[in-house]
Amino acid sequence: MKDKIYRSDNERIKPFEFNDEVTSVFSDMINRSVPGYELITSMMPVIAEKYAQSNSSIYDLGCSLGAVSFAIRNKIIDSGIKIIAIDSSKSMINSCKKNIEKKKVELPIEFIIDDILNIKIKNSSLVIMNFSLQFIPVEQRDELINKIFNSLLPGGVLILSEKIFSDSDFEDDATTQLHFQMKKMNGYEESEIARKREALENVLMPESIDSHFSRLKRIGFEKYFTWFKCFNFASIIAFK
Ligand SMILES: C[S@@+](CC[C@H](N)C(=O)[O-])C[C@H]1O[C@@H](n2cnc3c(N)ncnc32)[C@H](O)[C@@H]1O
Repeated sequence: MKDKIYRSDNERIKPFEFNDEVTSVFSDMINRSVPGYELITSMMPVIAEKYAQSNSSIYDLGCSLGAVSFAIRNKIIDSGIKIIAIDSSKSMINSCKKNIEKKKVELPIEFIIDDILNIKIKNSSLVIMNFSLQFIPVEQRDELINKIFNSLLPGGVLILSEKIFSDSDFEDDATTQLHFQMKKMNGYEESEIARKREALENVLMPESIDSHFSRLKRIGFEKYFTWFKCFNFASIIAFK
């Protein structure tokens, strides 16, 4: 279904939520809003094939409609690997559960409704946060990344895809404008883009790549680098 949530200006703009309305248009929304989303998602099975270990779990934290989990499940064949996909949005997880019933199961996926700040993570070889850390309060990010680090087996990998800001004003301004241009060319009206930006204020909190790298280093990740970047969006791979 096409995302027209911010098209009308009749209502007062409320803070963005992953509710039933967003769930119903989410696939269209993320594909038209996040540069490289399809490519990033399609690379997850490649990363899983290389780094997921037999007899361990892949975690998809903030899974929304399960795009990452389904992409991996459809390509990877190893009955020793289990995917655990978690989201705090009831409507997102209910939709995932409906979709899984329609498809033939290769790798088992467990969909869980919970807050990723509360869950236990264990025996993981690959943890993916595809555009979800940005919704976690900044002051709780260290604790969450530390929990993920402790859950990872030796050689385990964390994928962190995020909206980012640049410490260079020029780069920040140019990439923000290019992102705006992309959304316009993908059919969003200028007023719609402005209303969504207002709804996301203080809900989606981007950090710079350097802030992400500093956190990963502080917590103990051995190596990390940006494997994808387009405008003000990037994906980092970090190795334990
Ligand atoms: C931008 S979406 C992620 C997209 C998804 N990973 C994908 O690749 O299609 C962010 C998701 O994170 C979830 N989320 C945000 N905060 C959360 C939390 N504390 N615990 C669990 N899920 C959370 C939201 O409900 C939402 O579904």
